[in-house]
Amino acid sequence: MTTSPRDKTAPRDIDQPAVIAARTDDVSALNTKKVFIKTYGCQMNVYDSERMADVLSPIGYAPTEVPDDADLVILNTCHIREKAAEKVYSELGRIRKMKEANKPDMKVAVAGCVAQAEGAEIKRRAPVVDMVLGPQTYHKLPEMIAKVHRETGAVLETEFDTLEKFDQLPETRKPKGFSSFLTIQEGCDKFCTFCVVPYTRGAEVSRPVTQIVAEARSLASQGVREITLIGQNVNAYHAEGPDGGQWGLGELIRHVALIGGIDRIRFTTSHPRDMDDELIKVLGEEPKLMPYLHLPIQAGSDKILRAMNRDHTYEHYKQLIAKIRAANPDIALSGDFIVGFPGETDADFEQTMKCVKEIGYASSFSFKYSVRPGTPGATMHRQVPEDVKSERLKRLQDLLYTQQREFNQSLIGKTLPVLVEGTAREPGRLFGRSPYLTGTHFDGPEELIGQIVDVTITEAGVNSLIGV
Ligand code: 5AD
Ligand code: SF4
Repeated sequence: MTTSPRDKTAPRDIDQPAVIAARTDDVSALNTKKVFIKTYGCQMNVYDSERMADVLSPIGYAPTEVPDDADLVILNTCHIREKAAEKVYSELGRIRKMKEANKPDMKVAVAGCVAQAEGAEIKRRAPVVDMVLGPQTYHKLPEMIAKVHRETGAVLETEFDTLEKFDQLPETRKPKGFSSFLTIQEGCDKFCTFCVVPYTRGAEVSRPVTQIVAEARSLASQGVREITLIGQNVNAYHAEGPDGGQWGLGELIRHVALIGGIDRIRFTTSHPRDMDDELIKVLGEEPKLMPYLHLPIQAGSDKILRAMNRDHTYEHYKQLIAKIRAANPDIALSGDFIVGFPGETDADFEQTMKCVKEIGYASSFSFKYSVRPGTPGATMHRQVPEDVKSERLKRLQDLLYTQQREFNQSLIGKTLPVLVEGTAREPGRLFGRSPYLTGTHFDGPEELIGQIVDVTITEAGVNSLIGV
């Protein structure tokens, strides 16, 4: 296990697959076919899966949660670590058996980052696959499906035209709940030496402000109260604003905050190099922006940061955090860490431990370095043995989870505004999220679902809060 012990509804652990929930409101007389979409990976994929459902709805596909019922199965895949990518092939094995046993006409698509990275290789390894489509081509699903029904052999679409995709997607969203992701930026030009994202998602591209605002309004008009602005490098967002000037993420957040019905805004994932002064100011000033910041450092040693091509030092990060905390002392900080990057010595790893102790994180994601073919890290000398990585990860996670528990315990006795997302497993109990994104459970009537209510925290664990 390489990730934080979060509750099942916490922000996506990017190795854990999720199934897109069926939206019964989608099922109309027109919807005669069923699509089962399984999502692996990050928030970007969660958003993309919802958008694929939006694209398929007009051509008659309603979502199902039962793969056996599906006419079309889509695996929306993740390539970030080896484990995530390999899961896809085992799932395809299960799908092949299911198709052979009772669904001979079922079509199978592989979407997302494995599709982008491995393209035709997927079809060779898994002949059950009919369609392979990258993260920038899913708006073409209807024509791909038509082609698959006309021709034999797999259909492959892995072009990189992010803006064309967004131009083609339906403006109206069909959100599932009261909190929704909204992609504002995609791709990455940073080329951290461990990371596949610049190769699978392409260059950094920001969506136009007007398009984002239209989508946010569509979400608000359907009851969404919290929007998380997402992107691989969300704080590198830059686009022309309605005033003709260049807008960064700070300006965009102030603008989205003006939309009636939107009460909470979040953003993820950020890079320390792109935390500009305007964004830091907005973190201190905009009441709708939640006091939670995911700002990964990955490692504490300057030598490793350099080898990772992060382009900043630990000291720079520390000063940045000090500035952010000065702007808003209430900010809960979250981070990503990689242990066992090539060349990481015991002394380097101790620098990561020192960083965590000095900075203090309210939540975190931590991973063993996973060699990704085609990235510079893969061919670096002095790869770290697996048992050393495991030992370092254990020590790091012990520290991170202790901090997470301590942070949650510091909330006991406080009254927090919680956006109620639904019912918890226990009868009579509701589930929502604190401003710090912590899953919060409390007893209450179902009428409260969709409301922001004051909850006084009485108990705290590593992953969740209980309150009244
Ligand atoms: N090995 C391990 N972790 C990785 N991440 C990205 N690439 C790798 C890799 N090759 C982690 C980083 C990043 C998060 C999304 O996944 O911590 O911030
Ligand atoms: Fe990957 Fe680095 Fe870009 Fe983040 S900033 S997506 S870790 S290359």
